[in-house]
Amino acid sequence: MQGNVHHADASTFTTTDKSEVYETAISSAVALFESQRFWATNLANAASLMWHAFDALGMHVNWAGFYVVQPRRLQKPSDADTEGDKEVAEDKRVGKRTLMLGPFMGKVACQIIIFGRGVCGTAAEAGTTVVVPDVEKFPGHIACDGSTKSEVVVPILDDAGAVRGVLDVDCLVVDGFDETDVQFLESLAGLIGRSCEWDL
Ligand code: SME
Repeated sequence: MQGNVHHADASTFTTTDKSEVYETAISSAVALFESQRFWATNLANAASLMWHAFDALGMHVNWAGFYVVQPRRLQKPSDADTEGDKEVAEDKRVGKRTLMLGPFMGKVACQIIIFGRGVCGTAAEAGTTVVVPDVEKFPGHIACDGSTKSEVVVPILDDAGAVRGVLDVDCLVVDGFDETDVQFLESLAGLIGRSCEWDL
């Protein structure tokens, strides 16, 4: 990304072959993260790469982005008041860890998700990918956007194996993600986990 190569060019995919699009997106992420370890910067560019890759493939993705684990030193029960949710307030009072909205592409989304709640909180607590082909069949799904039909959430782990956040993608159609999509998202999440300083 030096000289006369524009950063925005990384958002242009000249093929509609899924494997090629994903390989190109991963190569761009590798190149971008080589010179940058600040988590917000890398998550912002990763959200853009995902968004444009899915668009090039004609997928009906309506949200692609991240939630990051809130540092305990910033976690206060009073924060929950901003969501006006008594259950969230109680979870925070007893010290459950929280995910905070991070960089994303798409419409405005829920700001706070408690570990163990929704698809994001489930993936964060378990430390494993959660694929939801039909959100109506996932008990506790948090509907930030009522038009979302399917979703994939992949945890982001640091070098020590601790969960630092989750990668979340929503789709407007049921069963919107196949194995190749999930492999791409897991590769990207792995790369992000290794490429960022998580001293939040
Ligand atoms: N549906 C998610 C909430 C986040 S939004 O999809 C952006 C969940 O159930 O955790």
